[in-house]
Amino acid sequence: MKLEEKLIANGQGHLLDMKDLSAEERAEYLRQLGAIDFDVINCYRHPMPEKRGKISPIKAVRTEDIERQRERFEEVGKGAIRAGKVAAVLLAGGQGTRLGADGPKGAFDLGVTKPVYIFQLLIANLLEVCARCGAHVPLLVMTSEKNDAATRAFLRDHAYFGYPPEYVRFFVQEMHPSVDLDGKILLEGKGRLALSPGGNGGWFASLQRAGTLAEFPALEWLNVFAVDNVLQRIADPAFLGATILSGMPCGAKVVMKSCPEERVGVLCLEDGRPSVIEYYELPRELAELRDGAGRLTYGCGVILNYLFSLEKLREIAGTTIPVHVAKKKIDFMNAEGELVRPQTENGYKFETLILDMVRLCGACLPFEVVREREFAPVKNRTGTDSVETARALLKQNGREL
Ligand code: UTP
Repeated sequence: MKLEEKLIANGQGHLLDMKDLSAEERAEYLRQLGAIDFDVINCYRHPMPEKRGKISPIKAVRTEDIERQRERFEEVGKGAIRAGKVAAVLLAGGQGTRLGADGPKGAFDLGVTKPVYIFQLLIANLLEVCARCGAHVPLLVMTSEKNDAATRAFLRDHAYFGYPPEYVRFFVQEMHPSVDLDGKILLEGKGRLALSPGGNGGWFASLQRAGTLAEFPALEWLNVFAVDNVLQRIADPAFLGATILSGMPCGAKVVMKSCPEERVGVLCLEDGRPSVIEYYELPRELAELRDGAGRLTYGCGVILNYLFSLEKLREIAGTTIPVHVAKKKIDFMNAEGELVRPQTENGYKFETLILDMVRLCGACLPFEVVREREFAPVKNRTGTDSVETARALLKQNGREL
């Protein structure tokens, strides 16, 4: 079908007005129109979450099990790193709206007496592992069209914080246009769709599209992690070893929830498959349930640090993952050509989420880590999971700020 027919058939005929665009603007606009995934956009009609399956607890490797077997786990993990089987995938395509900083979230400075950037802390953590193994892990950084140039420039200007550039790659994630409450795609300016990053669930498709994997033919495992947990251990040999030895295609670092009300997604089984249930979806009676030792039965809080087998990722690559539709305030250009910053929610954004990939893997090993040592997310300026709480945790762990 021709682009024009496609737009009309999908109720987006209003986008065909291209008068007043220069040849250059028109070419870019046509590129954006050609990239629209209508299967995603048309999900605005079903914004309600799907009904959940039967929930049951999942068995985690607990910290005491890990300590008992640490040597064996680490040996296997280090062996995989030395053999070039492991890459680290940094998800840095988000907009960090809650933090509200200009520029990429990883370029945020957490320092007090000197600059200490988020990227710097993450790379320092990874370099520690590399030093212990005597080998470097490819660091694959996912950006979005909104922050790609700034992220590359920032890391280059800081000499990749000591990471060898030949082990660093960038790839750009997909964007989706936002729609108004009637499903009409919004414009953010003349010849420009209101695009935003399509969530962290598309990372593998974007990585495949970029062709990066072919450069590292020995890869078997990808450790995917969020940009904002500044204490996390990346390519942690014990985590790698435990997952590899478990025979499962996926592992997830988890922290035990501090209380039933804690706002963190929980890893459990849903109809026998691993699944992450958001805190607001977990029924209260399940959230409060405790085992004989008094520990929360549904206590495995995910911290967005997953290990995936590449073989499994390739196998599930063609499977569609759910599109989450979120009602948001979206800046747009009105019929008079003026930019409007709405005070109330005026449309929908579309995202796929990495946590939905865990379910597709069929089995997942929850690997418990000590919260005070490995979980310091920077989501907000102040309050919970903020610059303040992360600084305190970094200091507690001996980092100078
Ligand atoms: P969050 O869900 O915390 O989103 O992302 P965010 O964009 O960073 O922050 P807010 O919600 O706007 O305040 C969790 C991880 O997933 C990445 C983020 O960069 C972060 O590492 N992410 C999120 C992407 O890479 N792409 C996306 O489209 C969304």
